[in-house]
Amino acid sequence: MDKFVIEGGNRLTGDIYVSGAKNSVVAILPATLLLDAPCIIENVPDISDVEICLTILRELGAVVEELGQGAYRISCVDVKKYEVPEELARKMRASYYFLGALLGRFGKARAAMPGGCNLGERPIDQHLLAFEALGADTTLIKTKDEHDEEFVDAVELSAVHLKGALITLNVVSVGATMNAILAAVKAEGTTIIENCAREPHIVDLANFLNYMGANISGAGTHKIIIEGTPLLQGNLQEGSVEERTYSVVPDQIEAGTFMVAAAATRGDVLIHGVIPYHLKDISERLVECGVKIEEIERSNNDIAVRVYLEDNQPLRATNIKTEPYPGFPTDMQPQMAALLCLAEGQSNVTEQVWEDRFKYAHELRRMGADINTTKDGAIIFGVKFLHGAKVRACDLRAGAAMIIAGLAASGTTEITDIYHIERGYSHIVEKLRKIGANIRCE
Ligand code: EPZ
Repeated sequence: MDKFVIEGGNRLTGDIYVSGAKNSVVAILPATLLLDAPCIIENVPDISDVEICLTILRELGAVVEELGQGAYRISCVDVKKYEVPEELARKMRASYYFLGALLGRFGKARAAMPGGCNLGERPIDQHLLAFEALGADTTLIKTKDEHDEEFVDAVELSAVHLKGALITLNVVSVGATMNAILAAVKAEGTTIIENCAREPHIVDLANFLNYMGANISGAGTHKIIIEGTPLLQGNLQEGSVEERTYSVVPDQIEAGTFMVAAAATRGDVLIHGVIPYHLKDISERLVECGVKIEEIERSNNDIAVRVYLEDNQPLRATNIKTEPYPGFPTDMQPQMAALLCLAEGQSNVTEQVWEDRFKYAHELRRMGADINTTKDGAIIFGVKFLHGAKVRACDLRAGAAMIIAGLAASGTTEITDIYHIERGYSHIVEKLRKIGANIRCE
């Protein structure tokens, strides 16, 4: 079983480059099913969730050609299947985007309930609400577990005719907002989605679809309006020069993770290829901790952020409350908590999105952290030092938190269950080694 081994204590210094956004590309790849012509997607991160998406597309009948450097040519023109292979659907959370895309394309879809990080109950009632509003019948396929308890095993969707509708989400949900867009983009007439999530990856999906001929407005606000467009790129004759290329937005959470790692090691790191306003709330919390953050416009219109602490500037405690974008992202909560374990004073971390996102606290305590969880969140008293230990990655972002703690700790840290981390961070060992981290995969 692979593990990361970190010899902590090195300051991170130098240049690091952010890849395309996981939570954007896992929606854009299924969205290619809605196109009536091939397209090229660039800046695709080399992560296992992408591998699963590409495998599902191929299993459905798509032609997926790897062009190198994170670019893929994808043609779904000849896709006829609308059932997502079960064992693949269970491997990640975002497999449910294939439901929205296949429903939008064929008027029917079937997929096993998705997998993904165990953050507590992860219902899909809002997704189903959106599909039903558009005219789809939704069927929950139930089976019984070894205790004879019933659970939802798969979801089946069918619609004689998808018709634009008013969709009012009861919960601000990234997944449901994305799936509502995917199902509505070709539906006849106008769809209005209210109480939408506003994350950068939602805007990226809308931008991709609009670039391919869709008519979506309001992405990034709480209200999205979609004018159904029956053909996307349908005017493109196979092989004409008009084949369009779309580049995935930079990963806000990967960038934030590197920012926190730089602060935790009292380093001085230039993080390239970012969109600063996506990082606004992360930057504000880090500045509260005494971290310096400078935006730097590079020559080739690359924008970078420089993250460092001035000499003798102590890391200060602060309070974190996770919220939907543009608030502090829940996907940065574990990483920030790891940093606050080294900050002077008491920090309070309140998790308002997921009911169970503090599994990593036990792992941090093994490294000497003073972190305790209550029903509302975590209370952290900063300590002078963390020490290396054998720990595990409880989920994707908890794994990132363990890397940050290991980089800052004295001694050796071994992190197991790194498959969680490899779902969402491409080449993280190589990237960190380039800026001075003593980390290896064994
Ligand atoms: C997406 O998950 C991300 N995953 C998560 O990132 C992220 O934590 C989350 O959005 C919030 O930003 C992907 O994009 C693949 P939600 P998603 O629907 O869509 C409740 C990572 O680390 N809810 O926005 O599953 C839900 O229980 C991962 O990259 C319903 O009640 O999250 C939660 O409390 C982890 N009914 C809240 O809404 C529904 O039908 C937000 O969930 C759907 C959600």
